[in-house]
Amino acid sequence: MSAIIQATEVYKIYDLGEERIEALKGVSVLINQGEFVAIVGKSGSGKSTLMHILGLLDTPSSGEVIINGTNTKGLKEKQLAKVRNNEIGFVFQSFNLLQRTSVLDNVMLPLKYSNVPASKWMDKTMEMIKLVGLENRIHNKSNELSGGQKQRVAIARALVNDPALIMADEPTGNLDSKTGDEIVKKFLDLNAQGKTIILVTHDEDLAKIAQRRIVMHDGCVVEN
Ligand SMILES: Nc1ncnc2c1ncn2[C@@H]1O[C@H](COP(=O)(O)OP(=O)(O)O)[C@@H](O)[C@H]1O
Ligand SMILES: [Mg+2]
Repeated sequence: MSAIIQATEVYKIYDLGEERIEALKGVSVLINQGEFVAIVGKSGSGKSTLMHILGLLDTPSSGEVIINGTNTKGLKEKQLAKVRNNEIGFVFQSFNLLQRTSVLDNVMLPLKYSNVPASKWMDKTMEMIKLVGLENRIHNKSNELSGGQKQRVAIARALVNDPALIMADEPTGNLDSKTGDEIVKKFLDLNAQGKTIILVTHDEDLAKIAQRRIVMHDGCVVEN
């Protein structure tokens, strides 16, 4: 099995002047291609911080992150953005969609920052919208959708660049349990199709669907 993410001795320290918060205290994790991993732990244990660093949305205070064989240490923001856009799809609790923008444009957005030629944007976008079952909503603005529909748009957007890796931070946190179950099923399907999934959650029941759990406590991995 080949590693898709290898993080070694990652520290993240927030220096707030009078206060110093050690959000990560020497975290090392290895995630292989095709795995479905849950990062679990209580609120404030450092899960989101770790996901942001593994996803190159944030940089560690020290330590290193290797993604698909590329050591990201010392890369400039532009280079980080390139790895991020090509290798990773993100899904967040708050959906992070453009509010007064259509489903179609929300899903298409990442393609505009990719190497995919413009002539293919529409086909790819529609393929992903169909995958999440929203083809009858393409012209609706995202603020006209239900929570579950919004999260399906976010998943379609995360997938449109065909990333090998999907990272989801509390993706069912704002959904009722039935809708949450549908979203979870979507992740299981994607994993069955070969995508690597990293699911961040404080919900122990939700974490059970993963093959492996990485348990965080107070900035450290306490179980892996
Ligand atoms: N931008 C930030 N500035 C200062 N402290 C932060 C910041 N982001 C997170 N923290 C702190 O780092 C710790 C870990 O937070 P977080 O990774 O969000 O935990 P979790 O996702 O497990 O709830 C918490 O103590 C939190 O208050
Ligand atoms: Mg969090």
